[in-house]
Amino acid sequence: MSSTTGNPEVIRLFPSYVSKMRVTDPVRDVIDRGVLAAIGELRVGRPDLVEGEVWQSPPSLHKLPAILPLVTCVSEAADRVLDFLNIGPRALSMTGCWANVAAPRAAVKMHAHPNNFLSGVYYLKVQPGADTINFHDPRPQTGIIRPPVIELTAYNTDQVIVTVENGGLLIFPAWLLHSVDENRSDRPRISVSFNLMFTAYAETMGAPLWGEP
Ligand SMILES: [Fe+2]
Repeated sequence: MSSTTGNPEVIRLFPSYVSKMRVTDPVRDVIDRGVLAAIGELRVGRPDLVEGEVWQSPPSLHKLPAILPLVTCVSEAADRVLDFLNIGPRALSMTGCWANVAAPRAAVKMHAHPNNFLSGVYYLKVQPGADTINFHDPRPQTGIIRPPVIELTAYNTDQVIVTVENGGLLIFPAWLLHSVDENRSDRPRISVSFNLMFTAYAETMGAPLWGEP
């Protein structure tokens, strides 16, 4: 006979989040046209990517008029994330935005996006073999002892693999480590990454929380 009653109550502490959305088809068409045109222009005169190569555009893609539909869409989506976090609508600025074209066999190492609040990715061309992103446990202590488990769950895994689709939009904390496995398809994988930070952060949110209002 058990000496405690029933199943334990599990109190969820400090959960991480990845917000997964899908852009509606008409908006997606407009965004994709703009992004693909920008990529085409930026890559004029460049040789085709070789196997294993990732090409990234300059991180100022969001300043091009053709990218405005994506910037608008991300801004709306980010407001919903702030809402979910109970922060409510606050001005966010896109501080960086760049296209990624990953040739077959190309991968992206684990990294985060410092000096921003949110980061995200919009997916234009993904396909089986090149349609996932890995998110890694940001708590290094959890890797010290890893007993074998019966089944992987959010409480015992060190990595969560998220499947993505064309027109998919992910937004997550900028500090959350992520990586992309090798492109195992025979076509390039095309996405756009971006960073978002509170506008005028120092002026509007930088004061000590315990200070005078
Ligand atoms: Fe990234």
